[in-house]
Amino acid sequence: MKAPKILYVCQSCGATSLRWLGRCPDCEAWNSYEEQVVPDERTARTAKAAPTEGAQRLSEMTLPAFVRTGTGMGELDRVLGGGLVDRSVVLLSGEPGIGKSTLLLQICEELGKTRKVLYVSGEESRGQLKLRAERLHIKGDDIFLLTETDVDAILAECERVHPDVMIIDSVQTLTSARSTSAPGSITQVREGAAACIQYGKTQGCAVFLVGHVNKEGGISGPKMLEHMVDAVLYFEGERTHSYRLIRAIKNRFGSTDEIGVFEMGDSGLREIPNPSEMLMAERPKNTAGSCAGCVMQGTRPLISEIQTLVTKTAYPSAKRTADGFDHNRMSLLIAVLEKRLGLKFYENDVYVNVAGGIHLSETSADLTLAMALISGITDRVIPDDLIAFGEIGLSGEIRAIPHADLRVKEAARLGFKKILLPKKNIASHIRTPKGVELVGVSTLFEVLAHLTSKKDVTNE
Ligand code: TYD
Ligand code: MG
Repeated sequence: MKAPKILYVCQSCGATSLRWLGRCPDCEAWNSYEEQVVPDERTARTAKAAPTEGAQRLSEMTLPAFVRTGTGMGELDRVLGGGLVDRSVVLLSGEPGIGKSTLLLQICEELGKTRKVLYVSGEESRGQLKLRAERLHIKGDDIFLLTETDVDAILAECERVHPDVMIIDSVQTLTSARSTSAPGSITQVREGAAACIQYGKTQGCAVFLVGHVNKEGGISGPKMLEHMVDAVLYFEGERTHSYRLIRAIKNRFGSTDEIGVFEMGDSGLREIPNPSEMLMAERPKNTAGSCAGCVMQGTRPLISEIQTLVTKTAYPSAKRTADGFDHNRMSLLIAVLEKRLGLKFYENDVYVNVAGGIHLSETSADLTLAMALISGITDRVIPDDLIAFGEIGLSGEIRAIPHADLRVKEAARLGFKKILLPKKNIASHIRTPKGVELVGVSTLFEVLAHLTSKKDVTNE
């Protein structure tokens, strides 16, 4: 008899090797390789071949009807592409404590009105779940809770309950007797999740899989599930702030551009259908060092505010900190302002903060930060009804940005009267909303001209 083939699998990233390795060459984790027996190819092939339906002409196929169910959370429905598709498998990833369990328990209420929901938790006791459900005011009759980690036991319970929606919280707690590796290991997670997905697809049950990821974004486990599921949603936000964003990384039934915005409060997650308004509501009036900007979050423009504090330094080398803005990008923009406009930032400490705990990773926020910095160093207040966005190049040129029309529309909706944006964008015929002045700028000098006279800002 042929000896079974042995493969070594990295438990951190899923890389495989024919030999055991002390350190994974892919993810550089130490002692992460575990032995795994590969099933005989011939038996695997025959086992796989049996259930396929055979090839069919594309022209003879009928369009499947996707039935979607509202989750009761418009923001989540939007990210899913218009509601939860029956029989679909959705992976919800995020850092521990971000609110994954809360969100999924909250949607049980609405789903439970038309569907039978089974919430399987391997992390919390029945008592804890009931307590949380009480807090979130979830009462539905067709919501079943199960605390179990063994995948065979979960599926046996599914045979009894016949759920239409199954929630597995989380894949990291799944164990499978069929696998010999340790609970929480890549092999166990993959086998457990695969069994649940298989059940969902064959029995017509939608499956939500919860996957924890770590701070570095090194997603041990959930990452290798991404190709097996229909949609991958990331739940993100600062744990110290109350805002939470959900974005789709992959979606077989909708766009991946959309984001959903929530706020974590005493009674769970609350939807924020108008995030721009909320971010602007607490904006201080008449303060130097602050400027409003607009970044795109998927297809939705988000108005946000960058605040800066520029003070004379008491240190040999000036301090720079940035919260919600890339530190290197900030340093680069400060250098551009120093070189092109002669502003003496090297004599000053610079603190940058983006209001609301939002992280601005789009280059359109360059001009917003530059304006805030100029205002901060000169102590000149930028008018409350002025907003600025555009990318800044190393020569101090203002470069065009995508979706300028959407940003202008959103800014106008929120009452901004003067919009500074790249001249190139204006050239592409943006419709000017009523009562709004569009100001095209192509260099930092022109930006200055709209702020104040150059003499004032050289900080002499
Ligand atoms: P949780 O859903 O348990 O996170 P995850 O499943 O992603 O690990 O949410 C955890 C945090 O949310 C926890 O720190 C407590 C907080 N929270 C509230 O602030 N309000 C609430 O109503 C609930 C249920 C939780
Ligand atoms: Mg949880």
